[in-house]
Amino acid sequence: MEIESRLVEVLQHARHVAVLTGAGVSAESGIPTFRDAQTGLWAQFSPEELASPGAFRRNPRLVWEWYAWRRELVTQATPNPGHLALAELERRVPRFTLITQNVDGLHQRAGSSAPIELHGNIGRVTCSEEGTVVDRWDTSDEELPPRCPRCGAYLRPDVVWFGEQLPEAALAAAWDAAQSCDLFLSVGTSGQVEPAATLPRVAMQAGATVAVINLDVTTAARPPLYTINAPSGVLLPTLLRAAWPV
Ligand code: OAD
Repeated sequence: MEIESRLVEVLQHARHVAVLTGAGVSAESGIPTFRDAQTGLWAQFSPEELASPGAFRRNPRLVWEWYAWRRELVTQATPNPGHLALAELERRVPRFTLITQNVDGLHQRAGSSAPIELHGNIGRVTCSEEGTVVDRWDTSDEELPPRCPRCGAYLRPDVVWFGEQLPEAALAAAWDAAQSCDLFLSVGTSGQVEPAATLPRVAMQAGATVAVINLDVTTAARPPLYTINAPSGVLLPTLLRAAWPV
């Protein structure tokens, strides 16, 4: 796979690389994306039925079970070469910020040290009333979702649902990275949900080179914007090897 030599040079000389990832990065680990036809998660389920506070009020059991199913899927999945390349990139560049919309924790399992999780993490559970993280709960009775051991409210996955605010500190850190990086990679995200739609623009306005890598774009080089239609599990390792041949 040919990668624009100008983009490779930008990467080689970058002081601060920021990367935003979406569901596409985990697609090659067997985790369905949200909006891709056929395989997209929302093709089977309506998002409002499953990932909103209203859905949880109406049918907490259904929502809990759906997330339990996804948690299981994530547990069985393993990081793919795209995740691993991003973990390596962190070790190659002077400053690196990884921002993810994914809740699957695969970046951490691949070795990325501190991804900014904009949408939470499916592996964590919180009390739906108090918002506190709960590590242990009683699943011995038949009632689902389980109850908070402290206050008795339902437990819920620690993810951001439709209509909920993104964690403020995470958002501020993502914004800061977009404004201060010299290379911004948007990988495996359709950019249909904020702030994924805006962050690359923020980076470009601040003077960064931006590369958008997913299966929706046509490959094109219009520096400082590059668009690359390629699977991240192939493209990211190729980009790394182009910048730092072994
Ligand atoms: P989407 O499903 O909207 O987009 C997936 C993107 O990944 C598309 O642009 C695909 O072309 C691309 N893609 C698929 N396979 C790929 C591969 N192997 N390599 C590279 N790209 C690939 O997922 P997101 O943009 O992550 O929010 O969705 C953003 C948010 O919308 C999610 O975090 C979720 C959803 O509502 C919440 O749950 C709060």
